Amino acid sequence: MQDFYGAWLAESERVEKTVLEAPRVAKGKSLNWVRTRQDFKVALMIAPETGFPTGGSLLMKAEIPVAWHTGKHLHGEEAIYIERGEGFMLLDDKRYDFRRGTIFHVPYRSPHQLFNTGKESVIYISGLAWPLEASIYMGRMEQVEDAASNDPAVLAKVPREESQYWATDGRRISMHEEQFELSGESKHGATYFLMGRSGKQNGFKATAVAISSIFVDLPRSKSHSHAHPEAYLYALEGSGYSEIGGKRHEWEQGDAVHVPPGMMHHQHFNPTDKDMKELRFEFGVRYWLVDQWKGYTTIDRHMKATHLDE
Ligand SMILES: [Fe+2]
Ligand SMILES: [Fe+2]
Repeated sequence: MQDFYGAWLAESERVEKTVLEAPRVAKGKSLNWVRTRQDFKVALMIAPETGFPTGGSLLMKAEIPVAWHTGKHLHGEEAIYIERGEGFMLLDDKRYDFRRGTIFHVPYRSPHQLFNTGKESVIYISGLAWPLEASIYMGRMEQVEDAASNDPAVLAKVPREESQYWATDGRRISMHEEQFELSGESKHGATYFLMGRSGKQNGFKATAVAISSIFVDLPRSKSHSHAHPEAYLYALEGSGYSEIGGKRHEWEQGDAVHVPPGMMHHQHFNPTDKDMKELRFEFGVRYWLVDQWKGYTTIDRHMKATHLDE
């Protein structure tokens, strides 16, 4: 047998170098759209396949044409944000309505499918821990139906929404924009809690992936400056830049920013006259490290959001 230990040491160096040199922003304008059995049109944003050194997680963007639905499938947990359009999700045969701004938590291995019943195409952003689940042989993905156009006879039989909560254990499945909880935090111009940090707020019980919060950075301001394990930001509104590991990365609405695994210091800047709004995804694997490694937690260098000149 070859010296496997020598290979481990070499790999450790390669891992460090890969994270240092990797891209930090997935540009919304240069996505590689494809058609799959699940989605009529879908593109990976932050993902191993697009060159990002993720902690076994990914972010993608998908489009459901008018009067279409996605495939029906099951896999690990998923967190979904509806960026545009309206319709409903069928999850474990129950209906959960959505419109612009709705978030969904899909529990582990619950069959689910999204239907577009509105007048414009639906766009949704989705976070998964599929690469991690697959690499530890826990990632079965099963396709039950393929994406197709809606059958009016089938739509007519779909029941009404009964609840935003899951019948199995009472956890929350959906939340609309007007239900988002404004916090008292001052790390950004404003912070809304959705599933919350670690995915356990507002009735949610997300473990693998959560849409934790929305940050609003005010015109000509900067966020707190800090370090923590991996997180993703999807730019909902405005434009600005982030300093991550001492390097500046510009972004605009529709882009996704990768704060990589490791403790890379970062801060977000809004040099414009309009609000900047970011949707934050967090993956549960970070807590596997936070819980065992002192220091692998959140460190704040400057605690509060301030004006750019301060
Ligand atoms: Fe899914
Ligand atoms: Fe951060």
